[in-house]
Amino acid sequence: MPIYVNNIINELERLPDFEIYGQVAAVVGLMVEVTGVEGVFSIGDHCDIVGRAARKIPCEVVGFRDDRALLMPFGPLDGVSLGCRVEVGASEPVIYPTEGWLGRVINAFGEPIDGKGALPTGNLSYPVQNEPPPAHSRKRVGGKLDLGVRAMNAFLTCCQGQRMGIFSGSGVGKSTLMSMMARHTDAQVSVIGLIGERGREAREFIEDDLGEEGLARSVVVVATSNEPPLVRRQAAYTTLATAEFFRDRNNEVLCLMDSVTRFAMAQREISLSVGEPPASKGYTPSVFAELPRLLERAGPGQEGQGSITGLFTVLVEGDDHNEPVADAVRGILDGHVVLDREIAERGRFPAVNILKSVSRTMPDCNTTEENALVIRAKRLIATYDDMSELIRLGAYRQGTDPDVDQAIHYHRPLDDFLSQTKSDHTDLASCYAKLAQVLNMPVPGEEGAGELSPGTASAGAVPPQPVPPGQFQQPPTPQAQPQPTAPLQGLTQQGPAPHPPSLQTQPGGEAGGAPGTAAIQPGLAPGLMPNMPKVDT
Ligand SMILES: Nc1ncnc2c1ncn2[C@@H]1O[C@H](COP(=O)(O)OP(=O)(O)OP(=O)(O)O)[C@@H](O)[C@H]1O
Ligand SMILES: [Mg+2]
Repeated sequence: MPIYVNNIINELERLPDFEIYGQVAAVVGLMVEVTGVEGVFSIGDHCDIVGRAARKIPCEVVGFRDDRALLMPFGPLDGVSLGCRVEVGASEPVIYPTEGWLGRVINAFGEPIDGKGALPTGNLSYPVQNEPPPAHSRKRVGGKLDLGVRAMNAFLTCCQGQRMGIFSGSGVGKSTLMSMMARHTDAQVSVIGLIGERGREAREFIEDDLGEEGLARSVVVVATSNEPPLVRRQAAYTTLATAEFFRDRNNEVLCLMDSVTRFAMAQREISLSVGEPPASKGYTPSVFAELPRLLERAGPGQEGQGSITGLFTVLVEGDDHNEPVADAVRGILDGHVVLDREIAERGRFPAVNILKSVSRTMPDCNTTEENALVIRAKRLIATYDDMSELIRLGAYRQGTDPDVDQAIHYHRPLDDFLSQTKSDHTDLASCYAKLAQVLNMPVPGEEGAGELSPGTASAGAVPPQPVPPGQFQQPPTPQAQPQPTAPLQGLTQQGPAPHPPSLQTQPGGEAGGAPGTAAIQPGLAPGLMPNMPKVDT
């Protein structure tokens, strides 16, 4: 009962003392010019245009020109004519979230769209466009958050209150990776904003990816690509406002947004309509002002509050990771996960490029042993990447460089470790244990784990112990010929092999990376493909 009384008091307080009307004076595209409201409207205020048959079209004040207010509608402008009445709204838009919103799907206005009946309302209003907590009173990031995805948990560990971006071109797996984390995370509450994405994906995400169990501890805010830019932008604000409600109740909240780029595009549409000049790739300066205002709202709360861990997907246009929105978002967030089209094309999902991705809370959140594993694995991946072309061509001669030999040896097991299907889940604790097994290093936390430091040459060296079945078999190392003038170690200087080696792809023993490439064969002229031209050095 007191909640209802509170609600009524809240609503009464928001009612204006008197009513003021404006009039529609012009409509240009999506922009409505209104006269007679000088000194009444402020940017961000909401109002209603009363159109034909008394149909009310909600609008937002987005600018002023001369003595006119510029409004943008939240819906189609059909039925609006010159002189139509414009009713001044109560004040800034707010929502009334409550724990009863868990398991529900709502729109940008905090209204239910899942057909499950009325949405309960809380007794506190949350402005959709809120300010982040003051920087000096914010807590520091908390402990590690389990995201259930091996590539993330092991190489890009995320802490409570951290904000990470998932960057890639279209169709490389951003949404899928996000859905895996939404499903497998151990966060108490997830607030998920599907902003400006395809309508088809929203239902698939909720029913297939999130599932009943995931939805029960989530609130999903949806604004699809066909909705007006104001609605898409507001859905992003509503997502953060809902997350703030749960944070204030001392919950560890995971806020996922797919995608921030659609939010930036919506803001671009709005500001271009108002007449703001474009600055970079058609994006207006207000886009770059709005991005930090939105993204800074995620992060640790104040003392006594929980935190909002933010995971935001960013579509990089034309796979150019330096395009303006990607660049701006990367600078605001505490880490970026880069998904690589080349990796996805090889069939490894999630296509996280470990070397290009960064979590800024690492290595501080890890133990020395865990960091040793990460460094070791990264070095192997980097070495393999450097040599991958030569290895695939068969131009690398086994035994020339022990580091490259190790990189080849561990390439497939590391690739398998990083691959993960949508339904597969590995918790935080097992991730490093699995990685340690893959690298033949001591499991962190177990006896002897602290003995190897990150740079130790013997850490994870190609072991003398039996090689697991199906993996690349270390050939008897041929005596490396001294090649004083060779600019690249490992490039062969001999002609074709005396006996043309057959192309052989070893099951599970990829020496060359992509399926179907030639494996390096022991006993044959090392690293040579049939008819391969002599490499001049
Ligand atoms: N973990 C995975 N396992 C298997 N396939 C995957 C995985 N992740 C992504 N894919 C494949 O990649 C395709 C594209 O994924 P997704 O829709 O998540 O990409 P996106 O980056 O969100 O695309 P867009 O930018 O168009 O929204 C999927 O349809 C699926 O075939
Ligand atoms: Mg997507």
